[in-house]
Amino acid sequence: MNIYKSILCILSISLASIACAANNETIRQYQFIEDGSGAYTIEMNEVAKPEPTANQVLVKIHATSLNRRDIMIVEKKYRMAGDITGGVPLSDGAGEVIAVGSDVTRFKIGDRVAGIFFSEWLDGKRTDEGVASARGADNGGGMLAEMVVSNEEGLVKIPEHLSYVEAATLPCAAVTAWSGLFKYGNMQADEYVLLEGTGGVSSFGLLFSKAAGAKPIITSSSNEKLEKAITLGAVGTVNYRENEDWQIKVRELSNGQGVDQVLEIGGVQTINKALQAMAYEGHMAVIGGISGFATDLPVGSLMGVGATVKGVFVGSRADFETMNAFITEHKLRPVIDREFSFDQAAEAYEFMKNGSFMGKIVIKH
Ligand SMILES: NC(=O)c1ccc[n+]([C@@H]2O[C@H](COP(=O)([O-])OP(=O)(O)OC[C@H]3O[C@@H](n4cnc5c(N)ncnc54)[C@H](OP(=O)(O)O)[C@@H]3O)[C@@H](O)[C@H]2O)c1
Repeated sequence: MNIYKSILCILSISLASIACAANNETIRQYQFIEDGSGAYTIEMNEVAKPEPTANQVLVKIHATSLNRRDIMIVEKKYRMAGDITGGVPLSDGAGEVIAVGSDVTRFKIGDRVAGIFFSEWLDGKRTDEGVASARGADNGGGMLAEMVVSNEEGLVKIPEHLSYVEAATLPCAAVTAWSGLFKYGNMQADEYVLLEGTGGVSSFGLLFSKAAGAKPIITSSSNEKLEKAITLGAVGTVNYRENEDWQIKVRELSNGQGVDQVLEIGGVQTINKALQAMAYEGHMAVIGGISGFATDLPVGSLMGVGATVKGVFVGSRADFETMNAFITEHKLRPVIDREFSFDQAAEAYEFMKNGSFMGKIVIKH
């Protein structure tokens, strides 16, 4: 064999081993596992790098965020179809498109995107298929991974002024607050808005109502958080721990007339009081049950104020895009309490379970 043939031979062996390495590429991904006590925990695993099919996009995830639902899921307190072992956690994530399938038209490499909460609820009314496509529980599509593939329909571009960390907070909490106030509540400037607590949904409610020229009143268990809420635009605050009958204070703060809008996240401990804090013909978006879901409708209070009550379940892709336009117009930035690293995902869960925070908790990948 002459020298040229030897070089060629070595080169071809090297190229073959590089190709082989590429085919065996792996990524790190968290998956749910049963923890032996009847709940789930999350475990980081090496899995094959996903490859997009014709209609799919490969996204390098730069950040994810947690919602109360994610805690309910691992504690098996969330309504799920069955065993989710092996599923990928977290509905909310943002990242960069790094490969596209042959038929993809909505995105190109380099686009900055976020997953939509229901990957198949694109517009109009909810459908069974749309509801079944929620990310981060039974049906896969979770974001707590270094890379994910998604049908191109299940993503939106993120506002340019936001970092990936900021954009990762939007898919669940922000779209929910948006739907409650604007899509269903038709919130108007100068209306009084009641926000319960200072978590994810309520902090977006505060930003949105302030930006729309409405008058947010917010409750919290912490005076420190209430002070911060004032700097973010709250016109009135009440500590619900120090004031058991906080609804009376809320009514006083809203000119004695009551609030026009409510984002009801508190559940059994708050819904009746919130109705008592409402103005005539106001709108209540029923969103959560942080103190346990209310099972009885307080008909007396409801008729007393003539409120419209609407159950909200996040929103569609169209809602997400309309919200993004508003966020861009007003250059809004989410309230982020703490960032964890990808390796610290389990600590982020613990912090949400046990810690005291305001706004959102983010994992930077
Ligand atoms: N239907 C939907 O589409 C949808 C979407 C998103 C969330 N949710 C639900 O909405 C609720 C909130 O979700 P999230 O992700 O915003 O939760 P989160 O970020 O964990 O915030 C919860 C906040 O609620 C406040 N809180 C706790 N107990 C309260 C009480 N008794 N009265 C008033 N406020 C209380 C606390 O605020 P302070 O620390 O300031 O006291 C806490 O930070 C959850 O039940 C969640 O499952 C529903």
